[in-house]
Amino acid sequence: MKSYNIAVLPGDGTGPEVVQEGVKVLNAAAQKYGFKLNMTNYDFGGDRYLKTGEVLPASATEEMKKFDSIFLGAIGHPDVKPGILEKGILLRLRFELDQYINLRPVKLFPGVECPLKNKGPEHIDYVVVRENSGDAYTGTGGVTMKGTLHEVAVQSAVYSRFQVDRCLKYAFEYTQKRNKKNTLALCGKTNVLTFLYDLWERAFHEMGDKQYPTIKREYYHVDATCMWMVKNPEWFDVIVTGNMFGDIITDLGAITQGGMGIAAGGNINPEGVSMFEPIGGSAPKYTGMNIINPLAAICAGGMMLSTLGEQKAADAIEAAVMDITANKLKSLAAGKMGYSTTQVGDLVAERV
Ligand code: IPM
Ligand code: MN
Repeated sequence: MKSYNIAVLPGDGTGPEVVQEGVKVLNAAAQKYGFKLNMTNYDFGGDRYLKTGEVLPASATEEMKKFDSIFLGAIGHPDVKPGILEKGILLRLRFELDQYINLRPVKLFPGVECPLKNKGPEHIDYVVVRENSGDAYTGTGGVTMKGTLHEVAVQSAVYSRFQVDRCLKYAFEYTQKRNKKNTLALCGKTNVLTFLYDLWERAFHEMGDKQYPTIKREYYHVDATCMWMVKNPEWFDVIVTGNMFGDIITDLGAITQGGMGIAAGGNINPEGVSMFEPIGGSAPKYTGMNIINPLAAICAGGMMLSTLGEQKAADAIEAAVMDITANKLKSLAAGKMGYSTTQVGDLVAERV
């Protein structure tokens, strides 16, 4: 029987609760589709940091490289200053494992309330390919005269042609494989970031002309992208963009698909170890109440199986989630689902 080794990082806040349901559904899918998941838990997160003073053991990255995939809950603790855990765990793993793609599907499931007027599942079904290794996330910059009236802070958006090309290649390939509208939209800001997104735009058209002539290319400035994601989301098929814009537009995308209860993402290294997570965060105020929505974690598990090559199992998870959004859940919001966290996990697992 095929088997996969999975590192499970439940993390902080409601992370462990949603991960538990994700694992439940993953195991149900494994059983049904004839493969095995060997899971190993790691306690990385805020509590461990507060106890030991260590954010991530030095060996963590090497250890993670031994797995086929990583399943992550949430990182962020109310007693730890913002940035420490995010940079020390989440961003560090993304960078050190070179997970240079952040794949974020924006799909409105049936029965889910959408904040956009007159939009339904037939209008909202696209994927954002967010570059995940560069931009303002690289820590390039610094501060001088800190604390004085003359303080100057610089944090640069940095991209190499190499980073841009490998991201674009993934995006073109993904668009081709998805085979829906066969349209890839570059989201940039060529009217202001005339160095940065000029590089992206040239690379985009060069690669498209030479290697992907059948994929239609579009370009939108990031501000306009936000506007059209609200007004005409049905225009989009696949959007590719830099790390910072990708971070921002995928929160907008998430709310149009029903919010953080359902939005999942994958930090992907196509040649290495990838990491899948619900994108909602640790939600400290709901911790331990068994009311948080586990569907985002469950969907992240589905993305993980898809990336591992277990497409049938991934499709079954998505179908099961759609069935319960359509027929069971009253709302996707924490405490308003009409079911507890564990019950939602049970419902999906049964259907799988
Ligand atoms: C996300 C998050 C992270 C990011 C934070 C927590 C560092 O917002 O995954 O979108 O900015 O990438
Ligand atoms: Mn974000």
